[in-house]
Amino acid sequence: MPDRRKFVKSAFLSAGAIVAGASVRAGASTAGLPQDVSYNTLRNKPVVVSTWDFGKEANAAAWHVLQQDGHAVEAVEAGVKVPESDPQNQSVGYGGRPDRDGRVTLDACIMDHMYRCGSVAGLEHIKHAISVARLVMDRTPHVMLVGDGALQFALENGFRKEKLLTPTSEREWREWLRDNKYSPVNNIENRLPGGRHNHDTIGMLAMDNRGNLSGACTTSGMAFKLHGRVGDSPIIGAGLYVDNEIGAATSSGVGEEVIRIVGSHLVVEYMRMGFHPGAACRKAVERIARHNPISAKEVQVGFLAVNKHGEYGAYALQEGFTYAVKTDGINEVFSSEHLF
Ligand code: GLY
Repeated sequence: MPDRRKFVKSAFLSAGAIVAGASVRAGASTAGLPQDVSYNTLRNKPVVVSTWDFGKEANAAAWHVLQQDGHAVEAVEAGVKVPESDPQNQSVGYGGRPDRDGRVTLDACIMDHMYRCGSVAGLEHIKHAISVARLVMDRTPHVMLVGDGALQFALENGFRKEKLLTPTSEREWREWLRDNKYSPVNNIENRLPGGRHNHDTIGMLAMDNRGNLSGACTTSGMAFKLHGRVGDSPIIGAGLYVDNEIGAATSSGVGEEVIRIVGSHLVVEYMRMGFHPGAACRKAVERIARHNPISAKEVQVGFLAVNKHGEYGAYALQEGFTYAVKTDGINEVFSSEHLF
């Protein structure tokens, strides 16, 4: 449960107000926000936040890098490699659920404090898609590589091919084939055996000791998707965005909904207008709901953001979105506020 003492109610935020050291600029009206949205107003440095409960373990790896005075970009890469390696995590990296053809295809991107970014989409056979994305950023003049080209680039740079489909994910895929007859749907959340969620992309944001921000996002995407489907996670501005002057944001959930509003960039732009990260996330979620009121009630999207002060917040369409926070004094998983 969140430590409520570390939070203040949104009711205390108003245009031009100074709240616990957090300046809210004029024009950033919080009118219309519910009174039950909680925001931290701490100034944290360093800080790591990431999506879902499993973010806690990933945060620990990122924190270790930050404690060695490492850069935020190194921290987020190290952090998200934890779920990428974990076969129990069936929506990221090794052990991820395959597409409808039984192929595990990974999407990932990374962005640093200087607008440098790299991305891969539809990458097969390489567990650490995030590290391939990092190399796209560091060693090529490009931002994004896809499919066979991404694999070729990875192999040329020393990655080795692995089988990413685990027996568990293969069994679930074969069960799905039997019932769904090769017909993908946009949202199969809670329809997997045991009612498990199928969308738990990891998005991670960090600020290092220098005050620089970076982010990483990695996923195997929507389970049993059409081969070639790309979600929000590898798309700079959709699944992740970092503006070192303002803040950073990432997303999890049904990528199609996030792409339509260029969600993470939108969250950062709301923070630029002066909204607290939690309020900025809420504004983006509301945008999805406004444009797509019927399907928004049936799908999950969650945003997570951190600003230049190290303040963080999240907001989701539905109940159930969680996020993990690591600072000097906090190492917890919080439940996000939600619209429906
Ligand atoms: N958010 C991950 C995806 O839709 O693929």
